[in-house]
Amino acid sequence: MRVTKQEFAARRKRLMDLMGSNSIAIVPAAIERIRNRDVEYYYRQDSDFYYLSGFDEARAVLVLMPGREHGEYVMFCQEKDREKEQWTGYRVGPEAFVEQYSADDAFPIGDLDEILPGLIEGTDRVYYSMGRDPEFDRQVMAWLNTIRAKTRSGATPPGEFVDLNHFLHDMRLYKSAAEVRVMREAGQISAEAHKKAMTICQPGMKEYELEAEIVNHFMKSGCRWEAYLSIVGSGSNACILHYTANRDVMKDGDLVLIDAGCELEYYAADITRTFPVNGKFSPEQAAIYNLVLKAQLASIATVKPGEHWNRANEVVIDIITAGLVELGLLEGDVDELIEKEVYKAYYMHRAGHWLGMDVHDVGDYKVDGEWRLLEPGMVLTVEPGIYISPDDETVEAKWRGIGVRIEDDVLVTKNGNEVMTADVPKHIDEIERLMAG
Ligand code: GLY
Ligand code: MN
Ligand code: MN
Repeated sequence: MRVTKQEFAARRKRLMDLMGSNSIAIVPAAIERIRNRDVEYYYRQDSDFYYLSGFDEARAVLVLMPGREHGEYVMFCQEKDREKEQWTGYRVGPEAFVEQYSADDAFPIGDLDEILPGLIEGTDRVYYSMGRDPEFDRQVMAWLNTIRAKTRSGATPPGEFVDLNHFLHDMRLYKSAAEVRVMREAGQISAEAHKKAMTICQPGMKEYELEAEIVNHFMKSGCRWEAYLSIVGSGSNACILHYTANRDVMKDGDLVLIDAGCELEYYAADITRTFPVNGKFSPEQAAIYNLVLKAQLASIATVKPGEHWNRANEVVIDIITAGLVELGLLEGDVDELIEKEVYKAYYMHRAGHWLGMDVHDVGDYKVDGEWRLLEPGMVLTVEPGIYISPDDETVEAKWRGIGVRIEDDVLVTKNGNEVMTADVPKHIDEIERLMAG
């Protein structure tokens, strides 16, 4: 693993320092979900749980109790069971967990109801992220009620219930050197996959053939999963922001937009490129493309320590609005069009998001009501786009159905930024050269 045991331990220690003594944090593993009848979705551990444990089994609950004499880090997990393991695979089991994952103690998950109320009792504060899994929420409430029911025998229920996200998600926002290394690698693998898709693309292929090429490259490079469902939208499908059907035939003369990134050891990459199915941009496609590219490059240039989070989006709005006026797609005074948000007909999302273990990663975008200032170690995407609906009668027919987005993953460094996904071309001449072979 690229993130060491020591780093996982340091994360737990840091979180416990923030929590303070006489408190308890409860973090459940992700739940298994049914896709159809008795077929499950691929299991993917919850990012918070994995961030603190490095443990990928389902049916587990992590507990942290800073300063507790009999152990601060306790795990509840599935017991060893020869027969069940024969059917569904290896389990670490509580005994081996302590040693392998540096816990102070571990218990069978079946003992949770019996043991956890005792661990909560006497603490002042419970840190827990309510609202993710209603069933687990009910369980937490039931444990509290178990303690409350015993107050006459001297039990003291905790007085405070605090959202764990505040501390934990702030920690996750700042990437360590090891995390940056994994994310850089995820960016490189994803960039190679996009290049492969560009090289094999031909009119007449199905969109999902490009998806297959991309997923194939991810897996061969050591990534078990995509970080999110790949978007391969040709023609006006590119105007559907979360198009994932990917089943249309790609036509000569259309653009294709691919938004795809791998997940490497629980870290996401998130890249979008848009290129011509036949390898050559038409004049209208090139005009829209170059406008998006200009906005993206200017937006990336704003990413540096001390600049606020929303600056990247403001720059995109300025450039795209002015560019659309210049091309005749919007009419009027640029400032007024921005003021009235008229650009939203063509650019309706934001310039990006935090990136990390989750593609839309955790962390606050505002602090005390103000846009957050960027700091070294933060990673964000920069992804402007222009989408002209195929039935937009307000523009000339030649523009309709063009959808372009360009997205890169950007690390804030001490002096500026590093584009972690720079290996895939985005200038028109580079793309056309690559596609011409
Ligand atoms: N792939 C999701 C996004 O770009 O936000
Ligand atoms: Mn994306
Ligand atoms: Mn994105």
